[in-house]
Amino acid sequence: MNNSTKKVAVITGSAQGIGFAIAKKLASQGISVAIADINLEKAQESAKELKNEGFEAKAFYCDVSSPESLEDLMKQIVESFGGIDILVNNAGILHPTPIEDVTEAEWDKVMAVNLKSVFFACQKALPYLKKSLHPRIINISSLAGRMGGFETGLAYTASKGGINALTYGLASRLAPYGITVNAVCPGTTETDIIQCWTEEQVSSLKSRVPLNRLGKPEDIASAVAYLASEEAGYITGLLMDVNGGIYFG
Ligand code: NAI
Repeated sequence: MNNSTKKVAVITGSAQGIGFAIAKKLASQGISVAIADINLEKAQESAKELKNEGFEAKAFYCDVSSPESLEDLMKQIVESFGGIDILVNNAGILHPTPIEDVTEAEWDKVMAVNLKSVFFACQKALPYLKKSLHPRIINISSLAGRMGGFETGLAYTASKGGINALTYGLASRLAPYGITVNAVCPGTTETDIIQCWTEEQVSSLKSRVPLNRLGKPEDIASAVAYLASEEAGYITGLLMDVNGGIYFG
């Protein structure tokens, strides 16, 4: 456990969207949340919104594609809050580029932000997680990483498949420390990230969902909150699909 009595969660990419919903849900459960994002101004607004609701939240700058930035982030969080109990690797970028048009630069960027980030965030948080009584790592993957994706670019699909494999590898390697490692795999969810698609593409994605609606950020946050809870302490290496029934694994 960290020095204070409250648990501490760091959520990357939590200035908005799914990450912010996760921060809000965990904060509402009495957890101190570190809102880490490349958009510091937005992160500060989001932290303020949570603080105005009486929750403990603080904004931090981080570019998850940089291991140095991640190391700095973890140090700053521990200085502010006394430790780290829960790491949610949520930051990600989506690209809709067709196979023929993907450049090496785009491929490398998507891999760095979506996949390299997950490994190094875990590495940099590890010394602190090892000291927690109920340490948790939760990776935000994607339906695309489970079945290839419908409209996603293939660098995105590959990065999310990589997260799933990392989740398995980390779960077995970190079990001796009592650290559980799971992934949540959302289907299409209503956030800014899907603005790269046309209305027709989004309607077509929605029409495939058996539960007949797109996901909401809160749907994903509920799954994360469960995996972060003490009740979920015997669950590790799970890829949890939260997608309205579009794919079962
Ligand atoms: P979003 O675009 O609303 O939020 C992404 C956040 O990540 C933003 O606050 C952005 O500033 C931050 N970010 C981007 N690059 C960063 C970097 N290098 N360092 C730190 N922060 C960075 O997107 P959304 O939908 O909330 O996405 C969150 C996660 O959920 C992503 O990993 C995404 O791949 C995943 N996901 C989203 C789905 C959807 O349909 N919305 C479906 C499946 C997975």
